[in-house]
Amino acid sequence: MINILVTGGNGQLAKCISDLESKTSNLNVIYTDYLELDITNLEDVNAFYNRNTFDYCINCAAYTAVDNAENDEINAAKVNELGAKNLAIACRNNNVILIHISTDFVFDGNKSSAYNEEDTTNPTGIYGITKLKGEQAIINHLESYFIIRTAWLYSEHGNNFLKTMIRLSKDRTELSVVVDQIGTPTYATDLAATILKVINSKSQEFGVYHYSNEGVASWYDFAKAIFDENKSQISLSPINTEDYPTPAKRPYFSVLDKSKIKSNFDIEIPHWRDSLRIAIKRQYE
Ligand SMILES: NC(=O)c1ccc[n+]([C@@H]2O[C@H](COP(=O)([O-])OP(=O)(O)OC[C@H]3O[C@@H](n4cnc5c(N)ncnc54)[C@H](OP(=O)(O)O)[C@@H]3O)[C@@H](O)[C@H]2O)c1
Repeated sequence: MINILVTGGNGQLAKCISDLESKTSNLNVIYTDYLELDITNLEDVNAFYNRNTFDYCINCAAYTAVDNAENDEINAAKVNELGAKNLAIACRNNNVILIHISTDFVFDGNKSSAYNEEDTTNPTGIYGITKLKGEQAIINHLESYFIIRTAWLYSEHGNNFLKTMIRLSKDRTELSVVVDQIGTPTYATDLAATILKVINSKSQEFGVYHYSNEGVASWYDFAKAIFDENKSQISLSPINTEDYPTPAKRPYFSVLDKSKIKSNFDIEIPHWRDSLRIAIKRQYE
């Protein structure tokens, strides 16, 4: 039996892990969210680790409100940087492997080919800055970690672009969506499956990894695919970022190179269009 702690247990990714893990028999998983375990409190984290025995911690807890973070740096840093550091310290002291989820927002988006794990980081907003500092805190305090950077997560859980588009398609007749930000929509269930594969592999090839679905899209392409799959009649128009200003600056290009995770863990990654079809079907099950 492999004992696992999942933090941020009420969040989107944690729910996707729970869906998959509940179908396996070799994993014993404890899910905690803010109320059971506030990762920003080192005393609480240490006490929780003393009361329980884990082989892995999957850190799904994060301050993910990208725009709010611009005016709330203290709280974003508390969760994304201090929280990650606290878990790294507790994992080191208790011989636990940490799987930490990070983001494409650690990059500035000025590259024109897929970002690999060695590429220079240069976050453009508070969310990305605090997530990068969280990565650095883990690297400085722990040897046994997998940091998995991902992007554009959606699923049938939580608030995400897929669910927003489905809602808007019922309320509106027309919609404009940004066409000049390029990345890869990623089904959080595919990422969850990859995390479980990393755990089941018992690999010690620690380090930073990139994971997203395959393929490339703009937010406009993503919205169009959702409406096509849903046979929605909504009229969709492309707009540029400058016509849809947001408090946080987002990378224009954040496609991730997944070669390392694919070869180290023998993973085949689905194309985003194929996963979207599955996600939409499950949305209505
Ligand atoms: N969503 C994306 O598009 C995306 C893209 C790239 C990377 N990521 C990364 O992927 C990971 C999972 O994202 P997600 O979409 O599952 O996020 P999510 O749905 O926002 O879940 C995060 C969870 O963490 C909880 N949390 C916040 N502060 C906490 C604390 N101090 N202690 C314990 N739990 C706390 C939140 O609780 P409350 O809701 O009560 O605050 C929430 O349940 C995050 O690390 C995120 O940075 C996400």
